[in-house]
Amino acid sequence: MHIILLGAPGTGKGTQSKLISKKYKIPQISTGDILREHIESKNKIGKKIYNILKKGELVSDNIVCDLVYEKIKKANYVKGFLLDGFPRTIQQAKYISNLNIKIHFVFEFIVPDELILKRISGRRTHIQSGRTYHIYFNPPKEEGKDDITKEKLVIREDDKIESIKNRLENYKKNNKKLTEYYLEEKKLKKLKFFQLDGTKKPNIIYKEIEKIIESKN
Ligand code: AP5
Repeated sequence: MHIILLGAPGTGKGTQSKLISKKYKIPQISTGDILREHIESKNKIGKKIYNILKKGELVSDNIVCDLVYEKIKKANYVKGFLLDGFPRTIQQAKYISNLNIKIHFVFEFIVPDELILKRISGRRTHIQSGRTYHIYFNPPKEEGKDDITKEKLVIREDDKIESIKNRLENYKKNNKKLTEYYLEEKKLKKLKFFQLDGTKKPNIIYKEIEKIIESKN
């Protein structure tokens, strides 16, 4: 099964990805996590993109598409994958369509800006695994520590207010076309596209996704 998760920053893509990926045993391919791994390892790509992420701008389509393709190849895509945070532009959407991999479901999470700001400002991240927590909505068992490894949780560099504003702006700039693209693909019966209310509790949203997948599969 091949799934795409769309949504503005902080709408819960990462949170739902982890649940779906575990249940359906398909790898989560998160472009944000991949880019942060490159930054952590301070390699050539990492140095090139550090400031782009920090400012909340989008990394170029070429770089991101290449990185996604590499992961898809490694993940043995025939068995399935879940794309989290990709595509983000119409060029990226066309890129994935041109790979001729059947996409089964596209889910988009809708959350108002005000709540997005609350979510991102309280987020704490375990960079090594991509696991996220929230100081109020989803606190770790032990304050400031990842539940599994007990390593330190951090505030992402792009979770500062100026970067968040930029990320939201970039999202809005691209999202209309992206939504139109998937609505058209849906009309042509190439895939199933659902827009979900992302303000509900994570387990409620997850149950809705599960119900859709099980009934349409
Ligand atoms: P990325 O890491 O993908 O960031 P993002 O899209 O901005 O999304 P977030 O990770 O901020 O949020 P999320 O939707 O995953 O929410 P989460 O589950 O964590 O990308 C980072 C950067 O990389 C981009 O800005 C760009 O520069 C670059 N990039 C990435 N992909 C790219 C691409 N394709 N092209 C070009 N550049 C790209 O939840 C947020 C918080 O809310 C957490 O604390 C969580 O615990 C909490 N929460 C989640 N769900 C709920 C809920 N239902 N109720 C209450 N709290 C909740």
